[in-house]
Amino acid sequence: MAATAARRKEATFTINGKEYKVDENIPVNTSLNTFIRNYAKLTGTKAMCLEGGCGACVVTVWHQDPVTKQKAPIAVNSCLFPVLACDGLAVTTIEGIGNKLDGYHRLQTRIMQLNATQCGFCTPGMVMNMYSLLEKGHLTMKEVENSFGGSICRCTGYRPILDAFKSFSSDVPEDLKKRCEDIEELYKIKICEKSGQPCSGKCGDSVKCDKLGSTLLHIEASEGEWFAASSISDILSIFDAIGDKTYMLVAGNTARGVYHRVNEPQVFININSVSELRSHSVGEEIILGANVTLTEAMELFYKLAKEQPKKFAYTKVLADHIDLIANVPVRNTGTIAGNLTIKYEHNEFPSDVFLILETAGATLTVVDKDNKEEVVTLPAYLNLNMKKKVLKNVKLPSLDESFRVGSFKIMPRAQNAHAYVNAGFRFKINSQGSGRTLAGKPTVVFGGINPSFLHASKTEEYLKDKNVLDQAVLQGALKQLEGELVPDHVLPDATPEYRKGLAKALLYKFIISLAPDSVKKNVKSGGPVLHRPVSSGKQEFETDKKEWPLNQPIPKVEALVQASGEAKYVNDAPHLPGELYAAFVLSSVGPATVEKINATDALNLPGVVAFYKAEDIPGKNAFTPPLAGLDEEEQILSPGNVKFAGEALGIVVAETQDIAVRASKLVKVDYKDVKKPVLTIREVLSSGDKSRIADKGKIDPTDPKAKSEAKHVIKGNFDIGGQYHFTMETQSCVCIPIEDGMDVYSATQWMDLTQFAISQALGIPENSINVYVRRLGGAYGAKISRATHVATACALAAYKLNRPVRMVLSIEDNMKSMGKRFSCVIDYEVGVDDNGVIKYMEATLYENAGYVFNESVVGFTIHHFVSCYDQSTWSVKARSVRTDLPSNTYCRAPGSTEGIVFIENIMEHIAKTLNKDPIQVRMNNLKKDSPIQKLTEELKQSSSYDERVLTIEEFNKENLWKKRGIAFVPMEYPFGFWGNFHAIVSIYAGDGTVAVAHGGIECGQGINTKVTQVCAHILGISLDLVSVKPSNNLTAPNGMVTGGSIASEACSYATMMACKELLKRLEPVKKTMDHPTWQQLIAEAYKQNVDLCATYMFTNKDDVKNYSIYGVTVAELEVDILTGQQQILRVDLIEDCGISLSPEIDVGQIEGAFVMGLGYYLIENLVYHPNNGELLTNRTWNYKTPGAKDIPIDFRIQFRRNAPNPTGVLRSKATGEPPLCMSCVVLFALRNALDSARKNAGKSEKWYKFDAPATTENIFLTGLPKADRYIL
Ligand SMILES: Cc1cc2nc3c(=O)[nH]c(=O)nc-3n(C[C@H](O)[C@H](O)[C@H](O)COP(=O)(O)OP(=O)(O)OC[C@H]3O[C@@H](n4cnc5c(N)ncnc54)[C@H](O)[C@@H]3O)c2cc1C
Ligand code: FES
Ligand code: FES
Repeated sequence: MAATAARRKEATFTINGKEYKVDENIPVNTSLNTFIRNYAKLTGTKAMCLEGGCGACVVTVWHQDPVTKQKAPIAVNSCLFPVLACDGLAVTTIEGIGNKLDGYHRLQTRIMQLNATQCGFCTPGMVMNMYSLLEKGHLTMKEVENSFGGSICRCTGYRPILDAFKSFSSDVPEDLKKRCEDIEELYKIKICEKSGQPCSGKCGDSVKCDKLGSTLLHIEASEGEWFAASSISDILSIFDAIGDKTYMLVAGNTARGVYHRVNEPQVFININSVSELRSHSVGEEIILGANVTLTEAMELFYKLAKEQPKKFAYTKVLADHIDLIANVPVRNTGTIAGNLTIKYEHNEFPSDVFLILETAGATLTVVDKDNKEEVVTLPAYLNLNMKKKVLKNVKLPSLDESFRVGSFKIMPRAQNAHAYVNAGFRFKINSQGSGRTLAGKPTVVFGGINPSFLHASKTEEYLKDKNVLDQAVLQGALKQLEGELVPDHVLPDATPEYRKGLAKALLYKFIISLAPDSVKKNVKSGGPVLHRPVSSGKQEFETDKKEWPLNQPIPKVEALVQASGEAKYVNDAPHLPGELYAAFVLSSVGPATVEKINATDALNLPGVVAFYKAEDIPGKNAFTPPLAGLDEEEQILSPGNVKFAGEALGIVVAETQDIAVRASKLVKVDYKDVKKPVLTIREVLSSGDKSRIADKGKIDPTDPKAKSEAKHVIKGNFDIGGQYHFTMETQSCVCIPIEDGMDVYSATQWMDLTQFAISQALGIPENSINVYVRRLGGAYGAKISRATHVATACALAAYKLNRPVRMVLSIEDNMKSMGKRFSCVIDYEVGVDDNGVIKYMEATLYENAGYVFNESVVGFTIHHFVSCYDQSTWSVKARSVRTDLPSNTYCRAPGSTEGIVFIENIMEHIAKTLNKDPIQVRMNNLKKDSPIQKLTEELKQSSSYDERVLTIEEFNKENLWKKRGIAFVPMEYPFGFWGNFHAIVSIYAGDGTVAVAHGGIECGQGINTKVTQVCAHILGISLDLVSVKPSNNLTAPNGMVTGGSIASEACSYATMMACKELLKRLEPVKKTMDHPTWQQLIAEAYKQNVDLCATYMFTNKDDVKNYSIYGVTVAELEVDILTGQQQILRVDLIEDCGISLSPEIDVGQIEGAFVMGLGYYLIENLVYHPNNGELLTNRTWNYKTPGAKDIPIDFRIQFRRNAPNPTGVLRSKATGEPPLCMSCVVLFALRNALDSARKNAGKSEKWYKFDAPATTENIFLTGLPKADRYIL
């Protein structure tokens, strides 16, 4: 067969300079990520979403341009890039750029220096994304900031990561530069062999893979074939050779990040070396090879717009639009043809590439199997039969200055999201007329409306030869649009109402932008979308050198190993011989009864070893032993009475992760008695079903008589949604049977619960279970009880098979099966006096518990609802509501977040109703002698609040379609100590170094850093003598969960006490010596048989008392009323940290928590199928957390000054959760902005319902941009 003759049977490439060969023994669809982690055993590169949406897997590929033959490093999502596509390429992973042995890369030390890691799971991907960018040379801060849309960090709030990377930019500000100076001398920096300088990432020094001959590849493995094609005719000959086999052309292989492939094709044809598909030429038109990558196309378009503006000025619009597609690594490998094929196969896909090419009037050249070429328009392409055809190129015309081209993409966050609606406009202006009249018919195209909608043909026809800047014409066009736009409604997409409104608004925006100076002054700013400058941050805190190393601003002690990928997480444990992989089989509906489960197909899949159901559990079928708050039993595997969609019904165990996941989908489940699920609190309340509601606490008024003084009665309600924790490390566990039981490596926040639950489920003694936790890749409460579910399931499989088993949930299974933050609602009525002081309150808070009342947080909600206010007149009830969802669980600042937003919503409501200053209303309701009064004055001053209020008023008067709002929120966060936390401190006699193990869990919050500082401080030694070891249940038995911001404090206390005990033991020895050094003292103590190991268990009976944490925040934001998009202009936040144990760590906690709250209030939206309860937003594709360009543009953090905590640990206060509670401030700032828009719309009501999340859609619909008000 010509196509297969003389082709190599083995792919060759390098990883970090080492050569690897891949042949038919590895599945042909193996991703580069799987190869790097499982075959090359380099675990620094992480993985999470496996769909190009999180950036955890980014590596650098030294890619060779098939046309110019030049090599350049590009960031690539290794989860999508096939390993066989690496043939002839060089790959660099995080280990390759720097490590303990060879020295670190400056990117790695910079990340550490600027305290840019918390859990560290995202860090290797972040570093590699930046490493690939460094090659560009003169990077500006703006370019750096723009390049991280695809790299998600849930912990840090991005600011320190951006600072670390901006420090490499050509326009780095002096103060940032200074902060980075000298640091390199402290660490061994990897030196480039060629230049003798620290690696700059520019020369590709790790590229050693030039050995390949020219023959291309053909690998025939049992499950599929892989070809590499050299030319279009080669592709055609391969088509010929493969007969009827299913195939795909592999370019970037990123399309499967959008639509997951259900069935893999039989043949993969790599076309990346086909130069005809990768080249371009420019003459009167631009001819772009169809497989030019999006990055290449973008760069070319920018270049042409600059160099040939007369013909191609419009390509800047296309380039700007491509910049909003996906993210840098996806654009680096994803191609134009690949994108167009998605649109071809899935007409509903709101393809940006298709949209902009059609806007430009491009055509496509298609080659058929007989090598015949056909030129078609884009709409015509959608109707072609593309079987065994190749998209050869795209032709874009030149457009002279008479053309005005514009496009928009409106999405749920600033970057890395697909469009709600995208729009493209091409208007030819009649050069003879006033410059406002169109010559002929314009192009008006929209995506995101329905699968068949593209051209607004009636509107195009209507606008033909008309003066588009005429008010009547504009209204006429909008009327046409109104008639022809018929959006579908497919959940979880936005409502038709929004998408239609948006499409009309985008036409209006474009028309304004045609002549911004000739429209009314207050309309002009409606033209452009929001402009975001480069963000910056400021962190102010006091530090007392006399106390150092306590209170010393040091980076996280593990930051460097995290930045180099040397830090190990559960899934990084070495694979043991015989190890297996487990995956859940989840119910697709609920509530229901399982009639039959048939796992035959799954068990027949080669590599599948076992399938387990509830009856296979030898002990108790529950992962919720009766410990704190877990009053109702939750089953590991449902015995058949399915309570919710996403409940685990079985476990498949297989030889590889891929097989386990694939097999889990082959298990057939028949259901009966399928009921329509009850999903929301409001549904339960309106059904009147009391059995679903439980009372969980109340506040009674101590001053009920005050009610008679009420002059105004205010009633309202407020609803907020749930939130997925979005840990970058999903639920993970590795269980290894050992001679006397089982070693359990679980990503858990609660070792004791894990141990207890496994013991109970397997019916084996607790002392046979050894739980180890080095660190978690994010937790935020998700890994308290829910981690135990995965641990018991994994332990079951390991126990039954007596083989090591690894269970790492996919993001979809993680999202579907696990509970999340409780959605909550409040109904309230308050009576107030003329000053807004509450004279009575009747309020009921409800939480959506999911299917059981476990882990109820509404008790915390009511507790925190009081915040800093006088509650003497309040009557409040807290209720938990049972729905048909997974059992909701603690999520960072559980209950407190909701409590504070509820009371602050009431304060705003009072202020608005009485027309009073919202800050004054709050001050009027404060508890007596609250420190909030003083903090508020300080913040008002430092944030220039009063001046800004006036400036905003002016701004809003002058702008109809851009609005600004500012708001203030105070917080008192009552903090309580509870639980048992151990610390064990051992001093080694040989060199005096110290090891500590504690009962807390390092999940990114910096507990190990604080413990290190406390230990060094108490023992009077330097930090580098102290090392914190992984946590385990031998040295920390019967411990409490790491949660509620408490563990850092408690473990620091336990460490302090253990150290004090050691000092006590050392004291008599020291007295016999003359000013010994630490090492001399320890050596002598050893000789004298002093026990150099001490333990201590912290409890709330220790010398600490509960205390309150105070904070105040001001936020200002800007809204585009015509799109619903917002950006946070500035945040000023004062947080009370007492005397911080570790200021940099606490800054990180504050920023990270606040940004997680921004996601909760503004972006994150959980959408369930109303009929079967399935979570529809279960991927990075449709569940969006904040990205690097969603954070405040100006983010200023201050610690409260001179406020030592007399009752906490070493005068400090906890910081992990409280700052999240203040992030609700953005909701009120938004409301203030929207007030102005609604007033313009003729709505003069003082209050309206505005729930959270305030998504782009919610904002748009509340801002009331009705088309009949679109004026010019
Ligand atoms: C996280 C993420 C976010 C994204 N966001 C957006 C977005 O916001 N907007 C948007 O528009 N897109 C978005 N995309 C889609 C992205 O642009 C496409 O995945 C990419 O362009 C596909 O190109 P590829 O080279 O990787 O295609 P591949 O995955 O390699 O191939 C896809 C298909 O195209 C076919 N094909 C490839 N080349 C040819 C050819 N020359 N002739 C005929 N058939 C061919 C293949 O046979 C295959 O069926 C996103 C993707 C991801 C992963
Ligand atoms: S794992 Fe590759 S982008 Fe998320
Ligand atoms: S540090 Fe970025 S996800 Fe945890």
